Amino acid sequence: MREEMERFQHEVTAAVRFLAARLGLLPEIALVLGTGLGGLADRIEGAQVIPYQEIPHFPHATVASHAGNLIVGTLGGKRVAALQGRFHFYEGYSTRELTMPVRVLSLLGAKTLIVSNAAGGLKPDFAPGTIMLLRDHINLIPDNPLRGPNIDGWGPRFPDLSAPYDQALMAAMLRCAARLSTPNVTSGVYVAIPGPSLETPAETRYLRQIGADAVGMSTVPEVIVAKHAGLKVLGVSVVANVNDPDNFKPILIDEIISETERCGARLQELLVAFLQEI
Ligand code: HPA
Repeated sequence: MREEMERFQHEVTAAVRFLAARLGLLPEIALVLGTGLGGLADRIEGAQVIPYQEIPHFPHATVASHAGNLIVGTLGGKRVAALQGRFHFYEGYSTRELTMPVRVLSLLGAKTLIVSNAAGGLKPDFAPGTIMLLRDHINLIPDNPLRGPNIDGWGPRFPDLSAPYDQALMAAMLRCAARLSTPNVTSGVYVAIPGPSLETPAETRYLRQIGADAVGMSTVPEVIVAKHAGLKVLGVSVVANVNDPDNFKPILIDEIISETERCGARLQELLVAFLQEI
């Protein structure tokens, strides 16, 4: 395990050195663009696009429809690095592997992580298209990116997660939503499941009972690494579908993608306004 961790540290360091030499500017904010939000990358000014394959030891996207680019530039006047295309536990990666890009961006100096995803709504009063800011999360992925020897230079052995999502960032986002009259923006608890199969009706009932408002297959591993590295985090879910255990409808991936794309423009406006404000 120690050797494996040493190898991982070596790989992360190589990626950090490569990017530090290559990038015209160093990011203050890291963005993980989830399903339907890839378009935000087109708004980045002075964009430097680096395909993941060019970055030493970066994971490669296994899903053909997922772009795999690191895009660095300015957005809303802030220096950002956007991960266009993320990695998931269900693809076969360990959570340590799939969070490697977030670790690299933290070591390049990013102080804030903004992470987005498409999610299934569990709360009965959510409608498709609801934008849910993450207030808290539950990890049901049977892995933790920090499992194994701790690298003390990266963060503490037992990172505190009593406040995983930054209150001030959430409040700023809600103020922007009010100013722009963005409809259906709320907050809630996100639960991460391993996937790739979707929930059964009984599982949906269970997820509601344990206190989750939305369910997805990502985000929590990245947030754990960001907190370990001392970053402030804002999490945003686009609720693509709403799952009612007593009237369960098939959850169709094409519908999830089209719904998140429909909401994408609204969330992009909101995020740009938010970046200008913070
Ligand atoms: N379940 C899990 N992940 C999802 C869903 C869902 O209903 N919708 C979008 N991502």
